[in-house]
Amino acid sequence: MKILMVCLGNICRSPLAEGILRKKIEDQNLDWKVDSAGTGAWHVGQNPDVRAIAIAKKYGVDISKLLARQIRKKDFQEFDFIFVMDKENYGNVVSMSSVPEEKNKVAMLMNIMKKGLNTNVPEPWYDDDLFDDVFKMIDGACERLMKNLEETRSVHTSRHTMSELK
Ligand code: 4NP
Repeated sequence: MKILMVCLGNICRSPLAEGILRKKIEDQNLDWKVDSAGTGAWHVGQNPDVRAIAIAKKYGVDISKLLARQIRKKDFQEFDFIFVMDKENYGNVVSMSSVPEEKNKVAMLMNIMKKGLNTNVPEPWYDDDLFDDVFKMIDGACERLMKNLEETRSVHTSRHTMSELK
């Protein structure tokens, strides 16, 4: 299982999603790959925002060593699922896909919780108070993701499609 988490800057939401999911994967001794990327390039090479590092630490997740990168075309080949944080990310990532098989790998993270609702994980960049809610939203979705995949037994197979989650 290979999962890519995507937001705009890759310094707040998607590194949190990467760290949160990686911890759950490690806790279950699963051999999954998880990574994150941004649609924008402004923060490439930087560690996550200090506020994201702090909120993760508060809940026992270490994201302090992650480095931002920009999403690239070959991510569509390398990952089974690409989860995006908001509608703008969705549009930008889908516009990079070239065939339906690639487009079908992309979904909004919060649709794991409520299908078809297209709820955004809000951008906390301009609002310090949002980091706690953002952490909890992402944590809930990652927890559900693990359960859904367990139920479809796809944790034990090598090929995965979004239909397992819909
Ligand atoms: P993220 O948050 O997409 O959750 O990493 C942002 C980080 C930086 C900026 C915007 C959003 N920025 O405009 O630099």
